[in-house]
Amino acid sequence: MRTQVGIIGAGPAGLLLSHLLHLQGIESIVLEARSQQQVEKRVRAGILEQGTVDLLNETGVGARMMRQGLVHHGIELQFGHERRRIDFQELTAGKSVMVYAQHEVLKDLIEARLVAQGQLLFEVDDVTVGDLDGSKPKVQFRKDGSSQELICDFIAGCDGFHGVCRPAVPTEVLNVFERIYPFAWLGILAQAPPSSKELIYAYHERGFALLSMRSPEISRLYVQCPPDDDIRNWSDERIWQELHTRLECLDGWKLMEGPVLQKGITGMRSFVVEPMQYGRLFLAGDSAHIVPPTGAKGLNLAAADVRVLSRALGEYYASGKIYLLDSYSTTCLRRIWKVQRFSWWMTSMLHRFSDDNPFDQRRQLAELDYVTSSRAASVSLAENYVGLPMD
Ligand code: FAD
Ligand code: DHB
Repeated sequence: MRTQVGIIGAGPAGLLLSHLLHLQGIESIVLEARSQQQVEKRVRAGILEQGTVDLLNETGVGARMMRQGLVHHGIELQFGHERRRIDFQELTAGKSVMVYAQHEVLKDLIEARLVAQGQLLFEVDDVTVGDLDGSKPKVQFRKDGSSQELICDFIAGCDGFHGVCRPAVPTEVLNVFERIYPFAWLGILAQAPPSSKELIYAYHERGFALLSMRSPEISRLYVQCPPDDDIRNWSDERIWQELHTRLECLDGWKLMEGPVLQKGITGMRSFVVEPMQYGRLFLAGDSAHIVPPTGAKGLNLAAADVRVLSRALGEYYASGKIYLLDSYSTTCLRRIWKVQRFSWWMTSMLHRFSDDNPFDQRRQLAELDYVTSSRAASVSLAENYVGLPMD
């Protein structure tokens, strides 16, 4: 088999890249380890930056998102049992974010690729990439029990944090930057109308809590928990109890409960590799970087990476010029590090650390007070939350 761009992974990075390449007349084949059904059901991110929303709309895959997504013009920060609003509209000259589940974005992208007769191969096994520093890199894999080889001009490693592409780069080439946090998030999806019109990020002495949503009927809620905690320790009753405590507010606000549809624990880390290119392999999305979830940046960073990559490949196929491909890593990393900083900062401000002391707690409360009372600080939070410019 041959293609122009072999894409490993049908997550947001891989599927969006395949779509953006198709719009420029560039052929790709996407290889995905999971089934289509698993990809379309996996509950993950839910907040799209303004730039991600614009990109999906401009490239013709935003119609269902515009009908079903929820536009949010601000968030609430809660501390000391009070809430203070960050008004994105006012602070960023009219920008907002969209609540629309990651797996819905993936369904829309898969549909668009299938309508355009794009090649998506699900349930492939034993993927390996090779000849990365030559002119015809290869992907080997098994599909339906038989071994296959795909010869490409380029390979895009969009296979997430645990994929095979990043480990295929010689270790001496990659610089790894990492920070692991001493806590995790326990997340639930509940059949309950959201108890607030906007997201609530809560700092509490028992730990962080987040109220989010997926639709007018479905709530998405998170609580900070120990990093090695087991989901079996958390009955639904215990989770609701913890959410009630951490989200309790002086004005008598009530948290609405409902059946828990899904629950899981996610560890938290900040991670970046530099460079994001080795020969003809380009890493994009979670395969190159992870942010802690506070601030909802992972999917959006993946979208920003593949936007840069698709333009660079577009220029290469249109003119033979490699300047944009050569600067892919530098271009992406400039934005990635700013987003890393923001995600680390939101995480540090809102969580209890195992080794914190009364000084740290007072400092966090002062920071929350400052960020919600100084216009300069509120603008900084808002412009990062709605998304820094893509270029
Ligand atoms: P992935 O989505 O991980 O996709 C990689 C794909 O590659 C997967 O489908 C995987 O099956 C496939 N794959 C892996 N290995 C192989 C292989 N060897 N061969 C073939 N295929 C392979 N981000 C936000 O922006 N906003 C949020 O609100 C948000 N909330 C989150 C909440 C949670 C609980 C979690 C876990 C994450 C959240 N994120 C959020 C992060 C976001 O989900 C990720 O950053 C995003 O999925 C990254 O996309 P990706 O395409 O790079 O990688
Ligand atoms: C969601 C996840 C986040 O990490 C976040 O900061 C806000 C919302 C969510 O899943 O809805």
